[in-house]
Amino acid sequence: MQEKKDNEFNLILSKADIVEIISSYIELKPQGKNYFGVCPFHDDHSPSMSVSKDKQIYKCFVCGASGNAFKFVEDYLNIPFLEAVKVVSDKIGYNFKLKQSKEDIKNNKYYDVMELATLFYQNNLKTKDGKEAREYLKKRGITDEIIKDFSIGLAPNKNDSLYKLLTKKNIDKKTLSELGLIGESDNVYDLFRNRIMFPLKSPKGRVNGFSGRIYNQEGKTKYINTRETVVFKKRENLYNFHLAAPAARREKSLIICEGFMDAIRIYSIGVKNVVATMGTALAKEQIELLKSLNVKIIIVMDNDNAGEMATVSIGRDLLDNGIDIGIVRLTGKKDPDEYILANGPNAFIDNIKNPMNYYEFMEKNLRKDKNLNNSVELTSYINDMIKLIIESKDPLFMEIEVNKLANEFNLDKSLLLSRINMDEPIKEIKAPTKEKPKEKVKKSTKFDKAFKSMLYYMMNDTNCMRMFLRRNLDLPQTRYGLVVDNLVYYFELTREMDFASYISFVEDYEDVSFFVKEIIENQKNEDFKEEDMKVFLDIVENTIKEKLILEKKKAMQNELDISMKKKLFEEIIELKRGMC
Ligand code: UTP
Ligand code: MN
Repeated sequence: MQEKKDNEFNLILSKADIVEIISSYIELKPQGKNYFGVCPFHDDHSPSMSVSKDKQIYKCFVCGASGNAFKFVEDYLNIPFLEAVKVVSDKIGYNFKLKQSKEDIKNNKYYDVMELATLFYQNNLKTKDGKEAREYLKKRGITDEIIKDFSIGLAPNKNDSLYKLLTKKNIDKKTLSELGLIGESDNVYDLFRNRIMFPLKSPKGRVNGFSGRIYNQEGKTKYINTRETVVFKKRENLYNFHLAAPAARREKSLIICEGFMDAIRIYSIGVKNVVATMGTALAKEQIELLKSLNVKIIIVMDNDNAGEMATVSIGRDLLDNGIDIGIVRLTGKKDPDEYILANGPNAFIDNIKNPMNYYEFMEKNLRKDKNLNNSVELTSYINDMIKLIIESKDPLFMEIEVNKLANEFNLDKSLLLSRINMDEPIKEIKAPTKEKPKEKVKKSTKFDKAFKSMLYYMMNDTNCMRMFLRRNLDLPQTRYGLVVDNLVYYFELTREMDFASYISFVEDYEDVSFFVKEIIENQKNEDFKEEDMKVFLDIVENTIKEKLILEKKKAMQNELDISMKKKLFEEIIELKRGMC
C-alpha cells in the first residue's frame, strides 16, 4: 500500500514542474540554468532561493530551506504533507484522493451547509435590503475588497429566510439546528436576524461559525456568536488563522489582537500575519495552535483595563509555553481598528516594529497605579519588581533593573541583590484586578433561594421560562438582574431553553457569566416540575408585593392629604388581595 502511494507521489511530482508551482506563490527570475526568488522562509531581501528545473528542487543558500514541490507548498502554506500533495495535484489537474477519516466525511456535510449559509448572507448584503448595512460598513471604512476577502454578509431582518432556503435545498432541520443556525419551539427561527455576518473559519479555513453584529438597532448585544456545535469549537479557533499562518511563517511573527474587526483592519493595511482571540483569554488549544507556528507572538490588545489585564495573563501563558513574545500598547484610541483609522497604517506598523518585552511591560504595568511616595506602596512595588527579576532569569535584566531601583529610590544595591538571592519565595505578583464590589455576606433568605432556583429553572426549561414571562413581574434590583435580562434575551433569540447551549452562550458575557456561576452552584435538580416553578414564582412575587406594601404603608403614615391617604390604602388592599 505504502509503495503504491509512493509511486503515486512520484507520478504527481513527475507531472508537476517545480518552477511553475513555486512561481504561483513567489516571483522567480531565470538566471543561467536556474531560477531565483526572494526566500519566503527567512527575512530575505535579495533573491537567495534557487530553483532547479533539472533537479526539481529548491534551495535557499542563506537559511538552508530546501526540498521538492510538496515540501515547498507544505511549508509555504503551513499545511500537512498530504494536503500539500492535494494542492500540487489540483494545480496540475491530477485527481488525488485524500483519504478522509470518518469524522471528516461526517463533518464535510456540515461544512457544506455553513458554506451555503455564507453564500446566502453574502448575496443578501448585495441586495436592496442590504443598503443600510452597506452604508454602515462603508462608514466604518470597510471596503468592497475587505467585504469580499472576509466573506462578510448580512442576515435578513426576517424570521426564517435562511431556514426556508436551506430546506428547499433538502437540508434537514436537525442539521441546521446542530449547526446553531436555527432555533425551534412552535415555529422554526433563524438564530441570526438583521445582523452583519462575519464567517468564522477553522484553522484549515473552513467556515464553521458566524459572528453577527448589530448595525441599526440600539440596545441589543453587539455581537452574537455561534454556540459550540459539531464543527464550531471556540477553543480551537482563532480569527483569520488560516490566512495569517503562511504570512506569519514568512514574517517570523504573528500579531494577536482582541477583536476580529481589529484583525480585519490590520490585515487590510497589508499586515497579513494577524489573528484575533475574540475575547480576552486564550484556551489551551489556541495556545497550541500559536505554538505550532514557531514564531514570535506580538500581543496588541485593546487600550483599556481589560486589554491591559489580558496582556498580563496572555503574555504569561505564552511565556510559560516557551513562546517568544512581544508586547505593544497603543495609546489614544480604544483599539487597533480605531488607532489605524485615526493615525494611519504607518503609525501602527511603527508600533509593531518596536514591541516591549514582557518584563519591560510588566515594570510599566506594576508602577502604573502606585503612589511610589507612599512607603507601603513603594515596598510592594519593589517586592513585585524583585519577583519579576527572579522570574526573568536574565542576568542582564537583573543588573539593569537593580541599578535602576537602587538609584531611583536611593536603596542599597547589595540589599536588593540579597533579596533576589534569598531562598524564601516572595509573595506572588498579582495582575491589577478590577475590584469587584464587595457584597456584604448575608445569610441567604427564602427570597434569595427562590430567586436563584427560579433562574436555574428558567435556564433549563422552556415551560418554566414561559411561566416566568407570563407573570410579568416588576422585579426589584438584585445582583442577578443582568442574568434575567440575559436569559430573556437568549430566549428571544432561540425560543427554547437548553442549559448547555445557554451556558456556552453566556460565556461571551463575562459580567453575566460570573453571576450565572453563582446561581448554578449547589443546584442539583434534574427534573423541572412546573409546580415547583410556581412555588418559586409565588415566593418572588409575594416578596415583591410585601416590599411594596411596606413602602406604601410608610408613605401613608407620612401623607397629610386625606384623599391621597385613601388612595394608598386602597392600593395596599389591592396588593394584598393579589398575593398568592
Ligand atoms: P470589542 O467590543 O472590543 O469589539 O470586542 P470590537 O472589535 O471593537 O468591535 P467593533 O469595532 O465595536 O465592531 C472584542 C471581541 O469580543 C467579542 C467579539 O469577538 C469581538 O471581536 N464580543 C464583543 C462578543 O462576542 N460579543 C459582544 O457583544 C462584544
Ligand atoms: Mn472596535
